[in-house]
Amino acid sequence: MVTTHAAPRAQVLLASNRGPVSYALKDDGSLEPKRGGGGLVSGLSAIGSDVESVWVCAALGEGDREAVRRGVGEHGVRMLDIDAEVFSDAYNGIANSVLWFVQHMLYQTPLEPVFDAEFRRQWASYEAYNRAFAQALAAEAGDGARVLVQDYHLALVPGMLRELRPDLRIGHFSHTPWAPVDYFRMLPDDIARQLLRGMLGADRLGFLTRRWASAFMASVAGVLPAGEGELFGAAEGESGRCFFRHAPAGSLPARDTDIAVHSLGADGDFLRRRSHEPDVEERMAALREQIGAGRKTIVRVDRTELSKNIVRGLLAYRHLLEEHPEWRERVVHVAFAYPSRQDLAVYREYTEEVARVAADINSSYGTESWTPVVLHVQDDFARSLAAYRLADVALVNPVRDGMNLVAKEVPVVSDAGCVLVLSREAGAYEELGEDALVVNPYDVTGTASALYAALSMGEGERGERTKRLAAAGTALPPRAWFLGQLEALAP
Ligand code: G6P
Repeated sequence: MVTTHAAPRAQVLLASNRGPVSYALKDDGSLEPKRGGGGLVSGLSAIGSDVESVWVCAALGEGDREAVRRGVGEHGVRMLDIDAEVFSDAYNGIANSVLWFVQHMLYQTPLEPVFDAEFRRQWASYEAYNRAFAQALAAEAGDGARVLVQDYHLALVPGMLRELRPDLRIGHFSHTPWAPVDYFRMLPDDIARQLLRGMLGADRLGFLTRRWASAFMASVAGVLPAGEGELFGAAEGESGRCFFRHAPAGSLPARDTDIAVHSLGADGDFLRRRSHEPDVEERMAALREQIGAGRKTIVRVDRTELSKNIVRGLLAYRHLLEEHPEWRERVVHVAFAYPSRQDLAVYREYTEEVARVAADINSSYGTESWTPVVLHVQDDFARSLAAYRLADVALVNPVRDGMNLVAKEVPVVSDAGCVLVLSREAGAYEELGEDALVVNPYDVTGTASALYAALSMGEGERGERTKRLAAAGTALPPRAWFLGQLEALAP
């Protein structure tokens, strides 16, 4: 394994699959750095320069691997050059095709899931990939350092790291939902137990909502043998501390793993400032051209991700146009669906389906002067902000989502206030449910009715709701999320 930096032994360490920066290898052989995206990276990036830390992440592609080889990198970032096949098995095979599917309940019978010999082979890679992280963290960490491990990619790291370095304070944070126990136990018993034991190697486990934390506790209760320990507290209630008390085993004394909820909100100050920069204004002008004067705008911005439920969102919009022809020519659905995990066939097919359904709506209802769906697939943060500013309605209808920051960002940025149509299955629902129009994400006609109600809502009510949504959505900015966990891990 090669490192980009010989860092001093650190007191604060972060570990995640995707790091704050990734490199593209250009045709002329140069390396172009790109900032990482997503809630996890924005949350962790809020650490700021006042906390000296080391961030351990994986080299994601050829550009990153080349950067490691050339010793190119950022201060405080250590990129692991994991064997390409092991990485692909662990990331594409196990993390994104199995663990992501379990926690988001995305499997479709009768074909999936199939836990066969190929799964077992990939699982061995997942273990090796987790071990590489644990070893790197063990080597970098100073005495008694605090280590914050992120997400389902690295569920085994806490247990492995504790074996290597019992002196460390270890936290693990799940950015995804947690599946109900009967769904979680679709995983083979030994694998389900290994995952839970790996996570329970931590001193503290963090979840985005009470719902996910209590689902995790139900999995522990339903999957681990009773003799391994006992759960105390109830994540759903208001009743203080929740923890798992490990029974003493051999030479290991009893110890506790806390189970805690740290919500993550939008960074209001940053968004307000960034959304008024010239590149955003430019893109607003271009979007206004595409939308046409005097029309209302329904906006969605997502990775093209099965759990985001983009196709049902389009079908709901189609139903709205069908049932309420008075809205034809008067509304445009601006849908940004940015490519994600394109190494997986099911994501590529979903990307095609999104484009097909959007084109179908346009050919069924569009006129010479009106394009009902404006679909953009080229990732562009400034254009996302431009769409947020123009939004009259924001559609956030995931079938399941750990939090969903778009739901929290649009109300902060929208110029004229916007109505949020929000799935009850998004983590953000716990904080925003009262002021959003809440939908069951599978219910296409119900979602169409919510879109209709959103378009028809009066200015006054819309403005009041937007204010409350923006306040709730920015109450826990990324820095508070991060520092809360760090403080909780203090010895
Ligand atoms: C989710 C996960 C994150 C991940 C992001 C993007 O939000 O919880 O860990 O970074 O998706 O997924 P990707 O596979 O592109 O890293």
